[in-house]
Amino acid sequence: MPGNVKIAPSILSADFAGLGAEVIALDAAAADYIHVDVMDGHFVPVITFGPAVVKAIRPVTTKPLDVHLMISPVAPYLADFAAAGADIITIHAEATPHLHRALQMIKSLGKKAGLAFNPGTPVEGLANVMDIVDLILVMTVNPGFGGQKFIVSQLEKIDKIRRMIDRSGRHIDLEVDGGINNQTARQAIAAGADVLVAGTASFNGGPSHYAENISLLRGV
Ligand code: DX5
Ligand code: ZN
Repeated sequence: MPGNVKIAPSILSADFAGLGAEVIALDAAAADYIHVDVMDGHFVPVITFGPAVVKAIRPVTTKPLDVHLMISPVAPYLADFAAAGADIITIHAEATPHLHRALQMIKSLGKKAGLAFNPGTPVEGLANVMDIVDLILVMTVNPGFGGQKFIVSQLEKIDKIRRMIDRSGRHIDLEVDGGINNQTARQAIAAGADVLVAGTASFNGGPSHYAENISLLRGV
């Protein structure tokens, strides 16, 4: 069981008109990572933001920017997100037939490489890239929107990946994303997750509640 749980608030639920202030407030509220949901209107139905927004928030926090790319194709944009100041760049297993090459590209850009799985995607191919991933993201909703319900069947996938990570002996974050609240956070942690993404649950009640929201998710 992982000892230290990290909380990664997703700025998808932020007030975009004051995004810098929102990130500063999350930083002050002890967020561990700032999760940035990039959507292209093609891989997922919605369009959110691109490298310019990553670049804009980079100076306002020293926390790692955890950039979740829900875009396809993905390879042509990796260098732009790296240059913009991403620390972790996560791509989807479903977004490219050249997964190993894309993960290698992220590493060669000097960034941590993450690999995400949609709820319907099996993890069989993971064994072939375990030596180069720094983060594995299990989607507990179908990507595209905040505020959806946690898909309980993914707990088994989290448990399976936890065992694979422990066998690998490498330090790999096991992140969950989608429908995380104070209850589902406990389930995800019990299954072996050690990084929780939370949009709705982080921003609930406005900036004066961020610290409490994050602390409750962490479970301390
Ligand atoms: C979903 C995104 C999530 C989303 C989570 O496509 O990847 O990061 O913001 O939002 P909540 O926590 O509200 O489910
Ligand atoms: Zn996300």
